[in-house]
Amino acid sequence: MPGEVDLSVSVGALRLSNPVLAASGTFGYGIEFAHLVDLDRLGGIVVKGLSIQPMNGAPPPRMCETPSGVMNAVGLQNVGVRAFVAEKLPALRAYRTAIVANVFGYTVNEYVEVIRVLEDADGLAAYELNVSCPNTARGGIHYGCDPQMIAEVVSAARKVARRPLWVKLAPNVTDIGILARAAEEAGADVLTVANTYPAMSVDFRTRQSRLGSLTGGLSGPAIKPITLRLVYEACHAVKLPVVGLGGIERPEDVLEYLIVGASAVQVGTSNFVEPTACVRILEGVERLCLSEKVFSISGLKDSINHKYR
Ligand SMILES: Cc1cc2nc3c(=O)[nH]c(=O)nc-3n(C[C@H](O)[C@H](O)[C@H](O)COP(=O)(O)O)c2cc1C
Repeated sequence: MPGEVDLSVSVGALRLSNPVLAASGTFGYGIEFAHLVDLDRLGGIVVKGLSIQPMNGAPPPRMCETPSGVMNAVGLQNVGVRAFVAEKLPALRAYRTAIVANVFGYTVNEYVEVIRVLEDADGLAAYELNVSCPNTARGGIHYGCDPQMIAEVVSAARKVARRPLWVKLAPNVTDIGILARAAEEAGADVLTVANTYPAMSVDFRTRQSRLGSLTGGLSGPAIKPITLRLVYEACHAVKLPVVGLGGIERPEDVLEYLIVGASAVQVGTSNFVEPTACVRILEGVERLCLSEKVFSISGLKDSINHKYR
């Protein structure tokens, strides 16, 4: 019965009403979903990645389906941080849900500049740095693949950010623990694990990529077992809280991420299938907890049973 399970969780210093947040890039700036979803029911909303200048994004097609997944090459289209603050944030502030600003840049200075603009605005709960971005000053190597580059961008962001700093790691790395520790030592408060997986989809008849950008990022149920392992490994590599995401479509998926150590989760691709997915999943989580006699969801965190090890 509603109200019998304490769904609240802590993610570092932030207290959330429940562990289900909408993931960046899959829920617009949040406000576009207000006529479909009661935004106050969500644990939080991570808004589309924000850059210092508006960006038009990649050529179409930008999304295609794969078995059990979706590929996208949106190219980080966004209105730019100043338009977000002026046009989107005022309406978002009316809601109780935690708003997390996802931030990216092509140089360290661009990350810093975006945060500086956000620092002057009210109504944000945290920043999430998307480090799955090419560093143009270093020949396009992604920040998230190199511990030194992660350290550089996180420590620069830390100097200007007064709000909690979440760092969203890339999944295509040999040892997530090394990257997680680099972010922790540079001053991250929370890790988000993880982003999409670099991938490719080709139509053999046309011999063309199904995406305008040739390659893209894979998300959805196909990536869940791979990312679940990354979340488990990150949780055991650092003391920081970890927010897990990748392929969550059922309430059971949320519980699995919490059991391997996540403090909260985000739901991404499922929002494209069903705009009300976050609320449906959350309601299912509450029902599952009741049937399993779990009365405080935070008790599930890191409760994995290692019996078969
Ligand atoms: C269309 C699309 C756009 C995305 N845009 C962003 C973004 O701007 N910033 C970011 O950090 N992640 C972005 N992501 C990644 C998602 O937030 C999430 O990490 C990933 O899709 C895995 O979760 P899922 O399997 O639940 O979708 C995007 C994903 C999709 C599918």
